[in-house]
Amino acid sequence: MQDQILEILYKNKGKYVSPAEITSILNINQDELEKNVAILEECGYIIDSSYESGIRLIESTHLVLPYEIKRELKTNYIGHKIHYFSKIDSTNIAAKKLAEDGAPEGTIVIAETQTRGRGRRGKKWISPAGGIWMSIILRPEISPAEAPQLTLMTGVAVAKTIKNKFDLDVGIKWPNDILIGSKKVCGILTEANAKFNTLDYVVIGIGIDANVATESFPSDIRINATSLKKELGEEINGSELIQDFLKIFEDNYDALKKGQFPEILVEWRKLSKTIGSYVEVHKQGGKIVKGEAIGINKDGALILERENGNLRKVISGECLHREKP
Ligand code: BTN
Repeated sequence: MQDQILEILYKNKGKYVSPAEITSILNINQDELEKNVAILEECGYIIDSSYESGIRLIESTHLVLPYEIKRELKTNYIGHKIHYFSKIDSTNIAAKKLAEDGAPEGTIVIAETQTRGRGRRGKKWISPAGGIWMSIILRPEISPAEAPQLTLMTGVAVAKTIKNKFDLDVGIKWPNDILIGSKKVCGILTEANAKFNTLDYVVIGIGIDANVATESFPSDIRINATSLKKELGEEINGSELIQDFLKIFEDNYDALKKGQFPEILVEWRKLSKTIGSYVEVHKQGGKIVKGEAIGINKDGALILERENGNLRKVISGECLHREKP
């Protein structure tokens, strides 16, 4: 019912609509209308209800509500089914449960805050209000060994979305951190479930510090993190960013399914802030590999040129950009 009321208010573009008109279109009584308008106000919509003039929408909500995401969504299937939570432990955990229960490809889980947000390598992901915390369920017919391609193509989709929308120095740090300048604005966590060497489902978790107040982050995270709000000096519309991202994501994913991963890698290389930088890669177990990043291969592994001129392929690890010694 709230969605239908919103549809009428949006259609009238901020002009007053009489309660009688709304109640007759929706076949509800005045009490029901008032109750639903109150719910919309609780969700952050600013609605002017005047006895003489009627009802009009003054300002939309800052929440990333399914209605707002779907309103101008241009995809064919990604994001057509949305599970929304104001607070959740982790959207990746919820998406994995939904995938186990048969949720279709393209289903997304989105939350305003996460209490147990998960980062890569078992780290915690701080997820306060204002961020975009979202997971996408995919069921690609690719081998588990090819799953990292999905993470790389998601990184390209996030970076392209931000680049198209805002005049910011956005790029990708290998393998899949999105940076503005040298600070991280988005992380991606892919979790795959394989059965008999085929992928049953993949959950791609995306965390974008959109309207997050980074001052609230612990100091060790704060020095390397930023948010779109901080970079732009104003709040962004989260739902619009999600709509644009989902469209680019779907286009990339469809291309990948048609065997066009090499083209996506070309885009990744163009957006990369790592290629051409001197890096330290901290591997699991504490080993550190250093060198100049000169490329990425077709599996997404980073190619380093070491001081002695030898090339070294690095498959995984935490990559840090450093000054060349
Ligand atoms: C990283 O460590 O860089 C990856 C962070 C991924 C965070 C996102 S937020 C939405 C989704 N749910 C989670 O629990 N994690 C991912």
